[in-house]
This record gives sequence, structure tokens and C-alpha cells, in this order.
Amino acid sequence: MIRILSVAAIMAVGATLAYAQGAGGAAAIADRKAAMKAVSGANKGLVDMAKGDVPFDAAKAAAGFKTIEDNLAKSKGLFGDDTKTGDTAALPAVWEKKADFQAKMDKAIADAKAAGPASTTEAAFKDQHKSFAANCGGCHKDYREPPKK
Ligand code: HEC
Repeated sequence: MIRILSVAAIMAVGATLAYAQGAGGAAAIADRKAAMKAVSGANKGLVDMAKGDVPFDAAKAAAGFKTIEDNLAKSKGLFGDDTKTGDTAALPAVWEKKADFQAKMDKAIADAKAAGPASTTEAAFKDQHKSFAANCGGCHKDYREPPKK
């Protein structure tokens, strides 16, 4: 605490402090978008596998779900109060309904964690991916501004 206070004292100039907070928020926004891109990239690989465009491979499926799990977990910690505005598509609801948003995130993380080990056969993988993928749209519809076409 004392250390935090002394840092605050060094940054006593209000403008400097505001700038520092703004930069912190912008970095977190960029990091969570990068994490979501990694989620989306891994998911694309799983979609291709579920469609049969690439052959089923249990190890690859598990790795894909793991990448999704890790990056969703990473993004979860990047929705601080200083990241409400800026270059972001996150809707105000993220902070207005924080508990629900975090619960949806936790569920998606838990589902990804369970889906990898459960994807032992192609049929099991397809089932797992189908039910897992509902987490993406289920969260985006309430918490993300639809991407511009
Ligand atoms: C619990 C909520 C939640 C879940 C689950 C979730 N997302 Fe997101 N996602 C968001 C939010 C909020 C944003 C907006 C982030 C921002 O712009 O700051 C976002 C942004 C994105 C973006 C845009 C990233 C960018 O470059 O701006 C993509 C792509 C994406 N998500 C894909 C996915 C996919 C695919 C899944 C499922 C595998 C998924 N998301 C699951 C909440 C979620």
C-alpha cells in the first residue's frame, strides 16, 4: 500500500496520471482483442475439422480447445473498469451485468477444458464442438457490438 501511494505521489500531476491510466486501459483492450483473435483462430481449425474439411485428429482437437481455454481465461482478466471505452467492441453491459458476463466466461472456459479430453472419437468431437460453440454467440449477442459488415 505504502509503495502504491508513493508511486501515486511521484505521478502527482493529474494529467500524467490520467494518461497512464488511459494507456493501461488501451493495452488491456488490445490484449483482450488479441486473445479473442487466438480463440477465433483455434476455433476456425475446429470448425474445419467438424465439417470434415480437415481429417479428425484427437490431439489437434484437444490442442485447439486448450488454446481456446487459455485465451478465454486470459481475456477474462482484461475487462477492468478502465477499459470501458476506446478501440473496443465490448458493450457497456459487460460492466453493467458483470456477474453474468463473468459467469458466461467461466462457463465457456470450463466447457473448453472439458471438451478437449472428451473429444476421443470424431463423433464425440463433433458433439463437443457443437455444444461448445454456442458459448461464443451466446456471449457476443449481449456483450459485443456486432462486427461491421
Ligand atoms: C463470455 C463472453 C465471450 C465469449 C464466451 C466469447 N467471446 Fe469473443 N468477444 C467477447 C467480447 C466482449 C469481445 C469484444 C472485445 C473488445 O472489442 O474489446 C469479443 C471479441 C471477439 C472477436 C473480435 C476480436 C477483435 O480482433 O476485435 C472475435 C473474433 C471473437 N470474440 C471470437 C470468439 C469466438 C470464436 C468465441 C468462442 C470460441 C468467443 N469469441 C467467445 C466476449 C466473448
